[in-house]
Amino acid sequence: MKRAGIVLAAGQGTRMKSALPKVMHPIGGLPILGHVIAAVKGAGVSRVVVITAPNDENVRTFARAQGAETAVQEQQLGTGHAAVCAREALSDFDGTLIVTYGDHPLFTAATFEASFAAREKAGLALVAFRPRDPAMYGRVIQDADGFVARMVEFKDANEHELAVPLCNAGVISADANSFFRWAARLRNNNRQKEYYLTEVPMIARDEGAKTAVVIADEQEVMGVNSRHELADAEREMQMRLRRHALDSGVGMVAPETVFLSHDTVLEPDVSIGPYVVFGPGVTVRSGAEIRAFSHLEGAEILKGAQVGPYARLRPGARIEEDVHIGNFVEVKNARVEKGAKANHLAYIGDARVGAGANIGAGAITCNYDGFDKHFTDIGEGAFIGSNAALVAPVMIGDGTYVGAGSVITKPTEKDSLAVTRAEQKQVSGWAEKFRTRKKAEKAAKAKGK
Ligand code: UD1
Ligand code: CA
Repeated sequence: MKRAGIVLAAGQGTRMKSALPKVMHPIGGLPILGHVIAAVKGAGVSRVVVITAPNDENVRTFARAQGAETAVQEQQLGTGHAAVCAREALSDFDGTLIVTYGDHPLFTAATFEASFAAREKAGLALVAFRPRDPAMYGRVIQDADGFVARMVEFKDANEHELAVPLCNAGVISADANSFFRWAARLRNNNRQKEYYLTEVPMIARDEGAKTAVVIADEQEVMGVNSRHELADAEREMQMRLRRHALDSGVGMVAPETVFLSHDTVLEPDVSIGPYVVFGPGVTVRSGAEIRAFSHLEGAEILKGAQVGPYARLRPGARIEEDVHIGNFVEVKNARVEKGAKANHLAYIGDARVGAGANIGAGAITCNYDGFDKHFTDIGEGAFIGSNAALVAPVMIGDGTYVGAGSVITKPTEKDSLAVTRAEQKQVSGWAEKFRTRKKAEKAAKAKGK
């Protein structure tokens, strides 16, 4: 049976108090909507339609980049109305539909799968959960056989209904054609004057179609409506990502201090110290070590490499085997080849550092002239002295020694010494004379007072 998904993301998310649409707020470095689309697709859904508000072009662009289609809900008339907005996009679709909210970043593909499986046996399936605090969730009222009798929104519920512990998690699956037929019959005669998705099971029941209940874990259902809930969801996502890393053989002494991205790739036997932050796009190969207080994004670190403590790897950093990147070293868009070392206080940007090269403390590539970025090529086995400034574009030959403090603007010859500092002068006895004069001046001043 073919599967399609509708993700509702046209709401304003006013409780976030943000100019950014709610579903675009990142969790684990990926917008909330990205997590939802990935989970829906993970359940074998080939077509996903994201419902968006007219002005949210950035949401549509993002959704398409994640392999989804988009549709516009001209006016935010409620979740049921939003789902119907996918009708045209899915007019040629025949199969099972899953409708889910775009503000639930922690749903897993397994729960969507369970929902599809339950709906094979009943007409529809609804995912529900029993939160510790049912708060403002819609309540699910079951019939004697456990099917959904009806649902009632928090704002419309009476005292008895509010006492019901089973809440709507917001995932409905049904036959697509039937769903759109039922949804077309929705009315907005409620407190909020909205067309509620939650009334679809009741309409279906009129036609004799039953809605089975699938119970999900509270941790999964967590909706994001405020900054508070966004932070809660981030915490939960981080726990998940850490658990996954530990389970796959990554060593972490203080996992609770390590922050991961949705796409962080850590191979078995990677070792990670405390307080390390992984931005998007990082891959660490087996046997590499990331030490405390390092910040990495868009970087690849190969086997046997050591990074940190206090290192910063920015997009395009490729740290090859057995390389050492030490404290206060920043690497951006640069390949640091096998066995090279930059142990302290250096900036390597838009560069290649050849195998076995040594970058001294304070050495930097001057890659930017205020307009363009330029490339520095450092040959194999080169030795860059402390505080050298390599003014790009420039090439350092294999095995070259660059003298400390030099400003290199011209290519250097293989195995040569390149040094630009002024020659050292020696003035014999100068210091002694200087001290004598200074002491005399100080004594004269003291007497005058
Ligand atoms: C909804 C459910 C509630 C459930 C809860 C779970 C309804 C009526 N209520 O309430 O039963 O317990 O989620 O979190 O469905 N949206 C649109 N267009 C609209 C309105 C909303 O696309 O016109 C989208 C929003 O962007 C959001 C989702 O639908 O992603 C849910 O809307 P929201 O307003 O957050 O619903 P809740 O009040 O949380
Ligand atoms: Ca919500």
